[in-house]
Amino acid sequence: MTLKEYLKERIEIVDYALDKWVPAETVEPETIHRAMRYSLFAGGKRIRPILCMAAGDVIHPDAPSIADAAGTLEMIHTYSLIHDDLPALDNDDLRRGLPTNHKVFGEAMAILAGDALLTLAFQVLGSLSEVGAERRSRLVLELASASGTVRGMIGGQVHDIEGEGKKPDAVLLEKIHRAKTGALLRASVRMGAIYAGASAEELQALSEYGEHAGLAFQIVDDILDIEASSESLGKTAGKDLQQQKITFPAVYGLAESKRMAEEERQKAHAALARFGDRAVRLNEIADLIVDRKS
Ligand code: IPE
Ligand code: IPE
Ligand code: MG
Ligand code: MG
Ligand code: MG
Repeated sequence: MTLKEYLKERIEIVDYALDKWVPAETVEPETIHRAMRYSLFAGGKRIRPILCMAAGDVIHPDAPSIADAAGTLEMIHTYSLIHDDLPALDNDDLRRGLPTNHKVFGEAMAILAGDALLTLAFQVLGSLSEVGAERRSRLVLELASASGTVRGMIGGQVHDIEGEGKKPDAVLLEKIHRAKTGALLRASVRMGAIYAGASAEELQALSEYGEHAGLAFQIVDDILDIEASSESLGKTAGKDLQQQKITFPAVYGLAESKRMAEEERQKAHAALARFGDRAVRLNEIADLIVDRKS
């Protein structure tokens, strides 16, 4: 199977799981379910759930129902995007090629749709029936800490917002990126590994991969904000400069940022060495993260 076919198949598997868990638009109160589904099914790359499933496959291929666990990462991620786009945060009009959630449903409903996706993610983890209580609780801890305030997504968003207009600073930059984006990508890989029963050593190696792939992901996001068009990104290009965000290009320039993304790619590959051919897909995904155009 080519990488393209593999990604398409994985997206279908995740979307099937998400569709099963998110209440239908006809379920009362209809508005919130429409708002949740609007952003969730607007066509994201699904990189986090795909990483989760691919990491799981390294340890135990085709672990039953791993797509449900993987889907929780997409719920958290989509919630973070809906809130990231709010006027109080990045104030964006375009996301995944569509008007942002608050533009369509209003700010109150967008806030609640984010809250609802966040809550649903933990409901799903609590309901997983194919793994025992010990793995379920470890998955909850992983997702909660990666989404939280201490070196997690919310903490990173706080640094990102408070960093606006400040002098670009390498230490703050790394703190922002590792937390706002890196933590959830690393957790994606770790959750797949935990779900599939990885040993402590395997988990450590996969975490390292996730850390490098996660940092590369946000470096590239920053580069694309400058080099790509709004049309190809499906979100407004050029926002970071406009909002004086602390980004890799702002601190290091474009050429050096590209070199650094390349370095993270190499480190991600190196972390997988012990797995040999079992890690082919994870290696390909690291390449995709760096070479992507959207
Ligand atoms: C965008 O994430 C926000 C960041 C954390 C950089 P993605 O680039 O994964 O967005 P989608 O899910 O494909 O829309
Ligand atoms: C967002 O970072 C990270 C999140 C936690 C959502 P950005 O603000 O750079 O994401 P985009 O560029 O709007 O997708
Ligand atoms: Mg932001
Ligand atoms: Mg943003
Ligand atoms: Mg960005």
